[in-house]
Amino acid sequence: MNCVEINDTSSYHIHDLNTLGWELTLCNSLEPENSPIRALLEKNTSFGNLLFDFLSRHLPLEEAKSVLEVGGGYGYIMRDFLGRLRGVRASMIDISPFLLSKQRETLNSHNVTFCEHDFLAASPDFLKGHDVAILNENIGDFPTACGLTRDVLNENCRDSQAAEIRGYFNKYGLAVPSGESFNFNLGAVRAVELLCSSGVPYIYLSEHSCEAAAPEKWRYALGIEPTDNPERIALKGHDEYTIRFSHLEAVAAHYGYRTARGNYTDMLPVRFDERIHFILTSKTEKDEHEIIRLFIGDLFKYEYLLLIRD
Ligand SMILES: C[S@@+](CC[C@H](N)C(=O)[O-])C[C@H]1O[C@@H](n2cnc3c(N)ncnc32)[C@H](O)[C@@H]1O
Repeated sequence: MNCVEINDTSSYHIHDLNTLGWELTLCNSLEPENSPIRALLEKNTSFGNLLFDFLSRHLPLEEAKSVLEVGGGYGYIMRDFLGRLRGVRASMIDISPFLLSKQRETLNSHNVTFCEHDFLAASPDFLKGHDVAILNENIGDFPTACGLTRDVLNENCRDSQAAEIRGYFNKYGLAVPSGESFNFNLGAVRAVELLCSSGVPYIYLSEHSCEAAAPEKWRYALGIEPTDNPERIALKGHDEYTIRFSHLEAVAAHYGYRTARGNYTDMLPVRFDERIHFILTSKTEKDEHEIIRLFIGDLFKYEYLLLIRD
C-alpha cells in the first residue's frame, strides 16, 4: 500500500496500488476442473463460462463487435468469452506486465490486442471503439481516498484532491457517508465516469461490496452486514477496498445508463440443499465446512453491476 499524504494538515490519504501481489480471485478458484467449490454450484464449469451465460441473459453479447477487458488477470474470462463469440475484436488493458504476459499465454490462439496501461489514464477515444467492457474483481484495486472527514465536502477546503472528491459528490449527487470518518472509492468512480462518458454501451463490474448483506437466515453464521463505508482488505503485496456500488450507480445514472445489480449467487447459482443449509447455520469447526462458508460468504459479499445504455 502506498499512502500519500495529500498535505501536512490533512487527516486523509490516498490508498494506491503500486505492487500487484498474487490474489486468488473467484475466477481463479473455479479454474481447476477438480476445484471442490465447483461441486457446490448448479453447473460445473469455469467462471468465464458462468459469467458469459449470465451476461447473455441481460446483454446482446452475440451482437458485440468489440469486447474490452480491463485487468484481466490470467486471461481466463476472455478465453471463455472468445470460445463462444465469433469474429469479435478483443482487447486487454492491464497495468501489470507480469499479468499481461500470462494473458498472452492463455490467449495465444486468439487475435487479441494487449495494452499495458493504467486504465484510469486510458483515452476516451480508445474506449469509444468498444461495445462491451468487463471489469471483474479489479475496481477495489483502484485508488481509494481513506480517512476522509466531512471537511472535504466543504467549499472552504482548498486542497486539490479534496476539490476533486467534492466535485464527484456534487456532480453525481452521491450519498454522504454517515460516519465521522469515511473512505471513498475514488478510482472506481473515475473508472465508471470514464466508461460512461465515453459511451461504452454495455459495462459489467464486480467486486467485494460494502453494501452487501447475507440473507437473514444465514446472516448470523456468515456475518455479512452492510457498512456503507469501503473497508480495507489486506492482501499479499497490496490492499484493496470494498466498493460502495450505489455511488457507481449514481454516476452511471447521470450519463443515462440503466443499471442491474445483485450478488454473485445470481451469476454462480449454488445448490442450496439441506447439507449446505446446515453448514451455513451452524458454527461447525471442520475445515471443509469453513471453506464452504467462506466461499458462499464471498458469493454474498461480491456484487455485480451492469450498466446498460439503451
Ligand atoms: C484481482 S486481479 C483480477 C483479475 C481477473 N479479472 C479475475 O477476476 O481473476 C486485478 C487485475 O486488475 C489489474 N489492475 C489493477 N489496477 C489496474 C489499473 N489501474 N489499470 C489496469 N489494470 C489494473 C491487475 O493487474 C490485475 O490483472
